[in-house]
Amino acid sequence: MNPRVALLLAIESSCDETAVAILRGASGQAAEVLASEVSSQIALHREHGGVVPELASRNHSLHLRGLVEKALRDAGVEMGEIDAFAATTGPGLASSLLIGSTAAKGMACALNRPFLGINHLEGHLLSPFLDLTSVPPHVALIVSGGHTLLLDVEGPGVYRKLGSTRDDAAGEAYDKVGKMLGLPYPGGPEIEKIALTGNPFAYDFPRSMLHEPHLDFSFSGLKTAVLYTLQRESGKFSVADVAASFQQAVIEILVRKTLRAAQQAERQHIALSGGVSLNRALRTAFHAAVEGEGMKISVAPPELCTDNAAMIAFAALLRHLAGECSPLDGDIHPNLPLV
Ligand code: KG4
Ligand code: ZN
Repeated sequence: MNPRVALLLAIESSCDETAVAILRGASGQAAEVLASEVSSQIALHREHGGVVPELASRNHSLHLRGLVEKALRDAGVEMGEIDAFAATTGPGLASSLLIGSTAAKGMACALNRPFLGINHLEGHLLSPFLDLTSVPPHVALIVSGGHTLLLDVEGPGVYRKLGSTRDDAAGEAYDKVGKMLGLPYPGGPEIEKIALTGNPFAYDFPRSMLHEPHLDFSFSGLKTAVLYTLQRESGKFSVADVAASFQQAVIEILVRKTLRAAQQAERQHIALSGGVSLNRALRTAFHAAVEGEGMKISVAPPELCTDNAAMIAFAALLRHLAGECSPLDGDIHPNLPLV
């Protein structure tokens, strides 16, 4: 018997990327990304040193129609063939979420198809598994600009929070330290690049909460320690050494806490997602640590690490195949938790 095949169109507009994807999938089969368009606003926000919400939402509304048309062209699909429409409905910037969700609801309404409102974090969480036939039980680390979250995952939709950051997210710490070092926004990729030429043991920055038994994180002390070092050594420090030592501290904290989470949850499989999981030094450290423990690791492919709509389409596909849909009069939720 042929499984039911569904075509989904999803929009992601929770922050500063406008993204549209078309995905084909069926129960028990790997999903197929037919198109994944991302229009990045990084250059636009760079001159302000961070995301300006009003600029972000204006640009989402300017680019969305063109991206939908391009996605349909690239996928070789007619709008009428789409079985369900989805959009991120939280967490994120309210004015940005409204643009994508209103557009997706409009298309769903016009074509009389179901709409699915998706949690951005569920998109990241599931992004390492698009090419598998099912989502295995695992411990997930989501590391992005807005979140640092450890979850026990039994399967799609069955999540238990194990820990999260009590202050800054890991990506936020990268971005703030990047700014202190005079690097362009966003700091993450810039710090990764410059750290390649630095000594990761030049500075012994604090590994906050590493030895406490809970699974929460704190990155604000690390950020402040970097600031004090820069003030103390004004003009005499090596940017590469500071970047490498900062990155070393972040990696050690993330790897050690995630492995401890897997032990506590009795899982043999770890998954990494979110913008910070693009970092090659982090990936290498995780692979080495996981192999040493005889565990498995899944990491989202690079194009699915930073914000994109394919991950939103995949989360929507699993819910659609399970018979779920969202009301057209549902709201957006800027602080929507995953669990
Ligand atoms: O997942 P994402 O695109 O957006 C959020 O949902 O937040 O993540 C963006 C974050 C930024 O903080 C950025 O600096 C960080 O991911 N990032 C990196 C790297 N590439 C992006 N952090 C460390 N190393 C990288 N290569
Ligand atoms: Zn994200």
